[in-house]
Amino acid sequence: MNKDVIIACDFASPEATYAFLDNFKDEKPFIKIGMELFYAGGPEIVRELRRRGHRIFLDLKLHDIPNTVRKAMKVLSSLDVDMVNVHAAGTIEMMRAALEGLKEGRPDGNRPLIIAVTQLTSPSEQALHDQLLISESINDTIIKYARNAREAGLDGVVCSPLEAAIVKDACGREFMTVTPGIRYPDAAKDDQSRITSPARAREIGSDFIVVGRPITAATDPVAAYRRCCADFLGK
Ligand code: C5P
Repeated sequence: MNKDVIIACDFASPEATYAFLDNFKDEKPFIKIGMELFYAGGPEIVRELRRRGHRIFLDLKLHDIPNTVRKAMKVLSSLDVDMVNVHAAGTIEMMRAALEGLKEGRPDGNRPLIIAVTQLTSPSEQALHDQLLISESINDTIIKYARNAREAGLDGVVCSPLEAAIVKDACGREFMTVTPGIRYPDAAKDDQSRITSPARAREIGSDFIVVGRPITAATDPVAAYRRCCADFLGK
């Protein structure tokens, strides 16, 4: 698996996304399409961005009964995306069903990678305890959910770059970590808290970094993307 920088295209419309990506003349970045853009642009934006040559992480975080997730994943797989995800909280059975659906959607064997969200970074430990009745620590929960994802046959997890090392220790070097929360020390943190730089994410062992505003809101997005690639990939 090749390490890479994934640009989070958190735009409200296909037009804004195309305008942003038109800045890139010499490279075809790996991009992430989240719920907002997918709900605005539908499958057609995925097809168009594939036609333009981008690799795509379709970040829709599925979480439903296994049968529904399997059938939905079959559809997403047939869109020829490179990576999809589910919530690990949906159980091992649901994650297995997701994987089956992906395989059914690509009879040629070229299924997308599938990763699990362990714990979202937004809820506090207090909220996990009080509202979700999760009494273990966040780290123990992340490790348990990552192990569940591995047992289900998934390829890896989404986690904070600071958690990539504990996930690798628990699940093995080959188990992928895809990490948002990337910031340069000299830049705004925005609403992210557990952050680190591209170079440090490489040292900790992230396989893919997901970078949004440090690139999309930069005065020169292409230069910002190249800086991330240079620091994370060492080239
Ligand atoms: O702009 P920024 O670099 O913060 O964007 C990070 C991207 O990663 C966003 O699309 C955000 O939704 C996503 N993400 C995250 N933290 C998670 C899971 C996903 O920041 N735990």
